[in-house]
Amino acid sequence: MSSTTKRYLITSALPYANGALHLGHLAGAYLPADIYVRYLRLMGRDVVWVCGSDEHGAAITIRAKKEGISPQEIIDKYHALNKDTFARLGISFDYYHRTSAPLHHETAQAFFLRLHEKGDEFEVRSSEQYYDETFGQFLADRYIKGTCPRCGHTEAYGDQCEKCGSDLSPADLINPVSTLSQQPPVLRQTQHWYFRLDKHGAWLRQWIETGMLDGQLHHDPAAWRKPVIGQCLSWLNEGLQPRAITRDLDWGIPVPLPEAAGKVLYVWFDAPIGYISSTKQWALENGRRWQDYWCDPNTQLIHFIGKDNIVFHCIIFPAMLYAHGSFNLPVNVPANQFLNFEGEKFSKSRGWGIEQHEYLEEFRDFPNAEDALRWALIRNMPENSDSDFKWDLYVDFHDKELADNIGNFVNRVVVLSHKYFSGATPQTTAVGHATLQRALELAQLLTTELERFNFKNAAQLLMELSSLGNTYLQDTSPWALYKADPQHPLIAECMHVCLQIVHLLALLCEPFLPFTSPRIRKLLALPAVEPGELAAALQTLEQGQPLIMPGHMLGQPEVLFPKIMDRNDKSRLAIIERQKQKLVQIMANTTAATPMAGVQLAAETAAPLEAPKPDIAYEDFAKLDLRTATILAAEPIPGSDKLLKLTVDLGYEQRTVVSGIAQHFQPEEVVGKQVTLVANLAPRKLRGVLSQGMVLMAEDAAGKLYFVSPPNAAGNGLIVK
Ligand code: MF3
Ligand code: ZN
Repeated sequence: MSSTTKRYLITSALPYANGALHLGHLAGAYLPADIYVRYLRLMGRDVVWVCGSDEHGAAITIRAKKEGISPQEIIDKYHALNKDTFARLGISFDYYHRTSAPLHHETAQAFFLRLHEKGDEFEVRSSEQYYDETFGQFLADRYIKGTCPRCGHTEAYGDQCEKCGSDLSPADLINPVSTLSQQPPVLRQTQHWYFRLDKHGAWLRQWIETGMLDGQLHHDPAAWRKPVIGQCLSWLNEGLQPRAITRDLDWGIPVPLPEAAGKVLYVWFDAPIGYISSTKQWALENGRRWQDYWCDPNTQLIHFIGKDNIVFHCIIFPAMLYAHGSFNLPVNVPANQFLNFEGEKFSKSRGWGIEQHEYLEEFRDFPNAEDALRWALIRNMPENSDSDFKWDLYVDFHDKELADNIGNFVNRVVVLSHKYFSGATPQTTAVGHATLQRALELAQLLTTELERFNFKNAAQLLMELSSLGNTYLQDTSPWALYKADPQHPLIAECMHVCLQIVHLLALLCEPFLPFTSPRIRKLLALPAVEPGELAAALQTLEQGQPLIMPGHMLGQPEVLFPKIMDRNDKSRLAIIERQKQKLVQIMANTTAATPMAGVQLAAETAAPLEAPKPDIAYEDFAKLDLRTATILAAEPIPGSDKLLKLTVDLGYEQRTVVSGIAQHFQPEEVVGKQVTLVANLAPRKLRGVLSQGMVLMAEDAAGKLYFVSPPNAAGNGLIVK
């Protein structure tokens, strides 16, 4: 790399090695960083991207105790799983380290000692803390349970009540009990090291608000996301307090002072230092200097995280780095908001959501499963507000964009080139073609959006580039020209222009769709893209030169993305439907009291599994009380665009039924309809309305709904069997 090349150090939040990661994690801190880093590499920039497992903290020891195994077994298992899963999804870290590594322990201890030696960065405070006499140890906040003083929940933790969400401290709990011995803990004197965060408030505020640091412009504050700055300022406004950075625990990095025997560094003190040790390990293994990335002020440090980590990366860790004195501060922290899953938070205990490795397993027969997932997450990325992952959107993005737009364009161009020019790039006199000018413009806009961390906009521009190609091909219609005159010069020009666009697409899609890019390159009979190649290609286009030379022989055409909604092959749809079916199952097991209107609706309208369902016993069928009924009245439900409140007549009584048909029928259309009702479905509340039964509907492949109606002559309340 030349010395003028811009240098970057990119980090992604170190995930805890005490569990698998779900799609929300991927969309939050890993996929956006991967897009950015791949882009930087394509531009020939000098970039290192580090990550690794966060392996300390009480969450890990608690999990180990629960499962009766050692913390080491837990972290070994999940470190390997998470590392492997990331790699399979194309997440291209330069290094995936772990905080249990000796190099990290040394690095974190040296960091601590440096602050200690400064004299005024730490203070030691004595306090009384809960101690378990049976187990002979101090108790982390999470190890204490008791009654919440706010809501009376009897299983509240020493740091938080999960029922009412209050932040607590152990002293707040009524009747505290140690979760280790189940005995009441006693208070004992202990001492801890506190980082004087309060001393750093003034420069931090100036740095965040204006980008100024020590009298120099450090970064452009306008380039930071508004919610990130907002969260920082609200923290600063509350006033910074000294923070305890040691714990009485037997799992973690020992505090390197003789008077601190038995104490470890707090996990949030050591974990971000993991970025430094990960870089050191990478440098060791690659014969490079880690200091070039951490200490040279021309290197751009950028942290990718989720919004729950903002304060740690924008206030506390920068203060630690500043106090240390030898390290760069981040020039940006493009934190994402949260991703939800089909209208709800991801929940491991309820099984709501899908983990990354689980997705790979269940989609193993789905073509391009990795890029299909990446694309669905990118299009729905929670950049500036929370967003929602939905399988229906996954299908739409896959079929309308990957298959119908990019896939279709690339395929047509290669097929037509074979037909008209026996697979060779045609000779043409077309230079500075207007369509290529526009393609270059779109490519430049796309790179600008990536530089600004606007990944959704960049993905949109990739689609626009492909649409440009499709529209141009359609407007020129070389097949029509060919019929009239196979030698028509516009045919060569059109295929030439289209091939240049395909080439550009293969380059520009690489950060988003790293598995698809080499496949497009194979169609072009070119090797996978190389570092710096995008920068070179943009220059070539600016000079009006072609990216593919006339005479270059292409590879064989291939369908890149077989559609999910394919009448003749339902195998891909079946994989999606199985996912939806799992959710319907979870909802069925959740009681009516849970406010999950959106979800209940999905249960009612989810398309049936394409594959036949397994046989059931007659006894199971006989449990259903199906009856004829007539809709007497129908009205919308305020706040829901999907639900109608129906009054139905069963002959022997009237019922209220909430039905997810509002997007298919007007209320007045359905009044008087004869329907079939599941009359013994347990009542459940939808948007605050108690629904006593379910109206049967049939759904066709296009999603159109039909009432399952007996003939009008049938009376109400007849048993259907
Ligand atoms: N393990 C933390 C989490 O999952 C993130 C740690 S980020 C680091 O929330 F900077 F501390 F490494
Ligand atoms: Zn509570």
